Amino acid sequence: MTKQRARPPARAELDPIETASRDEIAALQFERLRWSLRHAFEHVPHYRQSFERAGVHPDELRHLDDLARFPFTTKEDLRRNYPFGMFAVPRERLIRIHASSGTTGKPTVVGYTRKDIENWSALVARSIRASGGRPGELLHVAYGYGLFTGGLGAHYGGEHLGCTVIPMSGGQTERQVQLIADFQPSIIMVTPSYMLAIADEFERQGLDPARSSLKVGIFGAEPWTESMRREIERRFDMDAIDIYGLSEVMGPGVANECIETKDGLHVWEDHFYPEIIDPASGMVLPDGETGELVFTTLTKEGLPIIRYRTRDLTRLMPGTARTVRRMAKITGRSDDMLIVRGVNLFPTQIEEILLRDPRLSPHYVLELRKEGPLDHLTVKVELRADLLNASEGERAAIGHDLERHIKALAGVSAAASIVDPGSIERSLGKAKRVLDFRPRD
Ligand code: DLL
Repeated sequence: MTKQRARPPARAELDPIETASRDEIAALQFERLRWSLRHAFEHVPHYRQSFERAGVHPDELRHLDDLARFPFTTKEDLRRNYPFGMFAVPRERLIRIHASSGTTGKPTVVGYTRKDIENWSALVARSIRASGGRPGELLHVAYGYGLFTGGLGAHYGGEHLGCTVIPMSGGQTERQVQLIADFQPSIIMVTPSYMLAIADEFERQGLDPARSSLKVGIFGAEPWTESMRREIERRFDMDAIDIYGLSEVMGPGVANECIETKDGLHVWEDHFYPEIIDPASGMVLPDGETGELVFTTLTKEGLPIIRYRTRDLTRLMPGTARTVRRMAKITGRSDDMLIVRGVNLFPTQIEEILLRDPRLSPHYVLELRKEGPLDHLTVKVELRADLLNASEGERAAIGHDLERHIKALAGVSAAASIVDPGSIERSLGKAKRVLDFRPRD
């Protein structure tokens, strides 16, 4: 029996802004942008100083494009003002704090007023609806709860829409499968890499993920490819939808795909103003050109953020299923780019290539080592579970094919290491795709 598919929302179910004209959207953005620049300038010493240094004042915003004259904000600025220095309201007015783990140095801390939490919840609700979710459905949240914005962000959005939310959080994979089997949720929100671990656990328990109750998965917090989408959709017989966000700007729900088109993520432009810049020069690029994504918040009270450099690489495109603009699926951050013997490479390029081979699983990790003066890349990838008994000769042939494809398609020489199913560590949240064993200088 095939599952009934999730349906896109009817026009009457949408927020008015989702179908507003471009002129209406621009007028709203302009009004809100002026407020946000003033709010930041008047209440955050960092912004007053940085605007003054750049010789600009919020009153000089006469058109949306004038935003390009204002200075950028970086993660460093947030770190320098750790923990509460970037807040634009007295601490007592914040009802929630989140923080990013921060692999190096201090974490970045973000804060929300009651109104911010309401807006965030409404935008995640809009995202779930765009993904095909409806009030009354059961929603299993397997993003981590805590300082990470994924769990609580998804949770409040689900409640706002009127779903029955199951706050499972990440980890305890056996239990995830048991609860999905028992409670029969139709929607799951989780990182795509952890969804694969859940799929494997279904099979380990002798259950077919395709026969589960899940119809829609809303996946984000890390880059994932179209091949990974096909893999997840096939294994679960579901629609896999992309959700984007970052804690500095809000959390999940800054942009989301629409189930009817799955052609990039519609940016919720009534609350966030996107720009694409050339990462080297900082110049704004026209829509359609790829560069670094920069966001300005339009309504945030607690932590207004002006021209935040996300380091995510994408391009902006006109809307399709909605009138707001889309951003292309993010396949990498400037931080994740590897340079292997002079060739630029993103882990997602390897993911696309290895998923073309039906003998390989989507569980992989890239290892970088220094051999003499040169960087050496090893792509470690697991065989599909049903090939566990493959001979040494068969494994060598699979590895050889992969090396050939990587050379031909990514232009990089890499060694393939084909390992047993289950031998690569599973992520419970964001996957770590690169292990760098090169000595630090
Ligand atoms: O990852 C917020 C989030 C939670 C988004 C759950 C979606 C779902 P941070 O931990 O601050 O916030 O990490 C933000 O993760 O700058 C991107 O590099 C990456 N990222 C987030 N969503 C996507 C996505 C959350 N859909 C950083 N595709 C961002 C690719 C993504 N990368």
